[in-house]
Amino acid sequence: MKEILFCVLIMLVCKAYALLPKTYEARFVSITTNGTQMPLDVSQIRFLGRERMANGTFELKEDLDESFSIFGETFIDSMGDGEYKQLLFTAPKQSICKAFEAYWPYFEPSVKFGVNTDFPVHTHPCPLPKGKYYLKDVVLKADNWPVIMPRGFLKAVATGFKNDEYVGSLEIVSKISDLS
Ligand SMILES: *[C@@H]1O[C@H](CO)[C@@H](O)[C@H](O)[C@H]1NC(C)=O
Ligand SMILES: *[C@@H]1O[C@H](CO)[C@@H](O)[C@H](O)[C@H]1NC(C)=O
Repeated sequence: MKEILFCVLIMLVCKAYALLPKTYEARFVSITTNGTQMPLDVSQIRFLGRERMANGTFELKEDLDESFSIFGETFIDSMGDGEYKQLLFTAPKQSICKAFEAYWPYFEPSVKFGVNTDFPVHTHPCPLPKGKYYLKDVVLKADNWPVIMPRGFLKAVATGFKNDEYVGSLEIVSKISDLS
């Protein structure tokens, strides 16, 4: 009897956790790159309206094959004063194709082929094909993000390498706030 009660409790707790609603929303603040060898140009992306929808084009200047690798780090600025603290959420150095495969799920609800981009995200192409692609009214959707998230400015930095040589970094800043 005790065991049964315990099982029921566990199931209830798990269910409750799975149903725990997101208490935050994420909005784009900026997307930038640096490094003269960076094969990605994001300078033609703008952010529109209260929802900060990403709109415009980005360009891959060459096919990004297995010779490209990246590692990822995240930082939080809780006060909005530019003081970023590193979060434990990181991605080890790996090929761009493996990283895309592993981390795309975080962006999958936000960016859909044929809906708001012509980049073939749905096929997880390897290499990532050279070309100019559009983003149209892309709103960040945190559906697949952790349930618990600190508030503030969340900065994700991907540091890129070609044949193990540093080429540049991609920085995506978003604002995490309580759901209104
Ligand atoms: C590029 O940006 C990254 C991430 O913000 C930073 O750590 C790095 O120092 C920058 N590199 C250059 C060459 O400016
Ligand atoms: C948004 O981007 C699309 C595709 O690049 C473009 O056709 C449209 O004019 C842009 N909208 C605004 C308001 O800039």
